[in-house]
Amino acid sequence: MNISIIGAGVMGHGIAQIFAMNNFNVFLVDINKEALKKAIEQIRWSLKKFSEKKIIKEEEINKILSRIKTLTSIEEAAKNSDFIVEAVPEKIDLKKQIFKILDENAPKHAILATNTSSLSITEISEVTKRPEKVIGMHFFNPPQLMKLVEVIKGKNTSEETIKYTIELCEKIGKKPILVKKDVRGFIVNRILHQFLNEAFWSVYRKETTIEEIDSVVKYIAKFPMGAFELADYIGLDIVLNVSEILEKAYGLRAKVCPIIKDYVKEEKLGRKTMIGFYDWSKGRPEIKIITSSEYDVKRLYSIIVNEAAYLIYEDVSNASDIDIAMKLGAGWSEGPCEIADRIGIDQIFNELKRLYERYNEEMYNPCKLLKDYIDNGRLGIKSGRGFYEYK
Ligand code: 3HC
Repeated sequence: MNISIIGAGVMGHGIAQIFAMNNFNVFLVDINKEALKKAIEQIRWSLKKFSEKKIIKEEEINKILSRIKTLTSIEEAAKNSDFIVEAVPEKIDLKKQIFKILDENAPKHAILATNTSSLSITEISEVTKRPEKVIGMHFFNPPQLMKLVEVIKGKNTSEETIKYTIELCEKIGKKPILVKKDVRGFIVNRILHQFLNEAFWSVYRKETTIEEIDSVVKYIAKFPMGAFELADYIGLDIVLNVSEILEKAYGLRAKVCPIIKDYVKEEKLGRKTMIGFYDWSKGRPEIKIITSSEYDVKRLYSIIVNEAAYLIYEDVSNASDIDIAMKLGAGWSEGPCEIADRIGIDQIFNELKRLYERYNEEMYNPCKLLKDYIDNGRLGIKSGRGFYEYK
């Protein structure tokens, strides 16, 4: 079976590697020859890491690399593909242009997937003559290590396409989570971006510092990266792009913070430019433990629980899928719904109310679902039922 990956950037090369590691023949396509060369070097580096950790044998490295063929022609790759994953920059017109070419050249049976993080699957599908075969397949950075793939059903996607894509995710060792509605930001990016936004706004309002927030996130919440570290890791241009799409979709609730715009304007984009909120020239920044921080982790928890509640209220997902998605897509030690049940949904609600009264910002306005749960005695572990049931 032949797979094409269109775009050899951070996500594209990682996705190509995963397919090749699982015995698929891969065409990795980019119009830029230099990008293809760099992609193969990065794949070789990553495979070497895996062999050092005994995840693969050293002699497998060349075998895996030999399954990846680099190409500059989308048409040529499409003609010979059974399944295609597009992973080009988040520009709707560019994606539409590529999907038109893919549709005109790929065999009739081929499924066309997009790794978009926040654009509409339905809108992309409509430029093709096979909208039922167009689907969202959203990987997480770094795709080689993060186990989650969000599988997104557009309005036109057929059940057969969903089933096939879910099975394909399983064949490459990923955990697929179905996103029931084609909403902007799907599950993980909606929650992550509210989490980052709370961190950005708190620093912008000069209530705390980058170092304090990241210390709280890493050592109290025990997430794998600080909020600012993660933003740098993703790329501040990408974070801004996704934030603007979310602001357009959700209005004041997802208001973009000026702090991020300033960094992007100055081309301080994080890890990829070696400088962002942190200096990355010597590798990952060291997050220091700050014990004197007055920033309360409950604020961050409340924001992420609120967004999880909106996802359930809007029937985009359910508590269990949301928690799995955040644990496998962002490496969180606990999902938002588990956090809420542990702390108490009434406590989370009161914190949101307090923040809403203090700042009058929509991001703190509690979702109606939380109030409904409290009115029905669903407070979390302490009452035997919250997002989950406890025996
Ligand atoms: N391939 C192979 N190995 C890799 C690798 C890769 N691509 N990237 C990192 N590694 C290796 C490191 O080199 C390191 O190796 P070493 O032990 O020999 O030094 C090892 O993995 C562990 O890495 P770290 O020491 O940096 O530490 P961690 O244990 O923290 O693991 C991490 C790294 C898995 C990235 C973890 O920090 C994590 O889960 N971070 C959160 C990432 C996240 O949230 N991703 C989602 C972003 S949002 C997104 O992608 C959506 C988009 O639409 C915006």
